[in-house]
Amino acid sequence: MRNLIIHNASELVFSSGYEAKKGKDMNKLTRIEDGMIVVENGVIVAIGPTHKLESKFNFDNYEIIDARGKSVLPGFVDSHTHFVFGGYREEEFSWRLEGKSYMEIMERGGGIVNSVEGTKKASYEELLKLGEKRLDSMMRFGVTTVEGKSGYGLDYDTEIKQLEVMRELNSVHELDIVPTFLGAHAVPNEYKGNERKFIEKMIRILPEIKEKNLAEFCDVFCEKNVFEIEDSKYLLEEACKIGLKLKLHADEIVQLGGAELAANLKAVSADHLLQASDEGIDMLANTGTIATLLPATAFSLKENYARGRYMIDQGCAVALASDLNPGSCFTESIPLLIALSTLYMNLTIEETVTALTLNGAAALDRADRLGSLDLNKQADMIILEHESYKFLPYHIGVNCVETVIKNGKVIYDKGRKLC
Ligand code: NIG
Ligand code: FE
Repeated sequence: MRNLIIHNASELVFSSGYEAKKGKDMNKLTRIEDGMIVVENGVIVAIGPTHKLESKFNFDNYEIIDARGKSVLPGFVDSHTHFVFGGYREEEFSWRLEGKSYMEIMERGGGIVNSVEGTKKASYEELLKLGEKRLDSMMRFGVTTVEGKSGYGLDYDTEIKQLEVMRELNSVHELDIVPTFLGAHAVPNEYKGNERKFIEKMIRILPEIKEKNLAEFCDVFCEKNVFEIEDSKYLLEEACKIGLKLKLHADEIVQLGGAELAANLKAVSADHLLQASDEGIDMLANTGTIATLLPATAFSLKENYARGRYMIDQGCAVALASDLNPGSCFTESIPLLIALSTLYMNLTIEETVTALTLNGAAALDRADRLGSLDLNKQADMIILEHESYKFLPYHIGVNCVETVIKNGKVIYDKGRKLC
């Protein structure tokens, strides 16, 4: 039984609702002072000021947390990661520090294909262990739901291996994992110039993925000299036909019309968007496709940030995610994301909280059950060591998360993993 009461919290803070928040609404948070929240069977059944709720519940029937002096928020949802991979690319990072661009490194045979080799070599058990370690680290930052992509296989066996690792992790680890098939993540050398043939090969894997329920989403690296618009569209339309939901790595390096494609296909999210056009941004705002921004990647690649402020002003629903991967962005740090979002993309802290919680859930099509402290939602929560959520950007680069609760169960508390 996961029955829990948190009471006396200096504040309960969340972006309220059961669907993504767009534009100006992203800035509105619900804040309950001296808050109490009641969880039964892992689900939120009551929320309000402690003095109003206290007398209505028999505390003997619940685990009790006194959150005096502490701020309570929904768990963070990291809706874009590549956390299952073998091998590291620290050498390439040092080349980048010497001034080589990400594209130059890819052209020299580095980049994603290096991680493909490492992931092919790694056994299922090795990937499982690495995945578990990375999930633990994300959990310590207050993340309670994680999206994970395949894409370091580019062939049947390794793509399926990555997806199966995620399925097992989802059953053994307390965090929820949402799997995405990203078979079209890079063009293997033997398919250069014949990308369509590679796309067709990936399309042939789709029915098995769907049948075995190995992925919920299909994603593609839609980029110049990788998979351009027509190839991306072909793959995603086929994925949609068999019932997968859609995501795109869009307009990251070159303005190719990825945002427009995402909106036209009614993708759940379009991710990166560093180079997205004004028209593409308008289309995302109109269709409600979530604009998922990954500022730690821009930071790591020393690129300009996506126009997050402009996107919100134009009415987009923006989510923030880490993009944890072994190449362009080897970090799962939520404090870094918060610093970049507030200080460099000029999102307010309230918009940043919405982007990391409710809109992150929406980017995984789960805003109806995750991402806020509303009634009937899954009780995924974090307790900060401070009395106000405003410490999140203020205590720069430092993790303020003291306790992590998943489905009403404390899974991490003051430096100790409890699961
Ligand atoms: O989201 N852009 C493409 N894919 C990843 C990079 C993966 C890698 O470098 O290994 C990204 O940044
Ligand atoms: Fe990515």
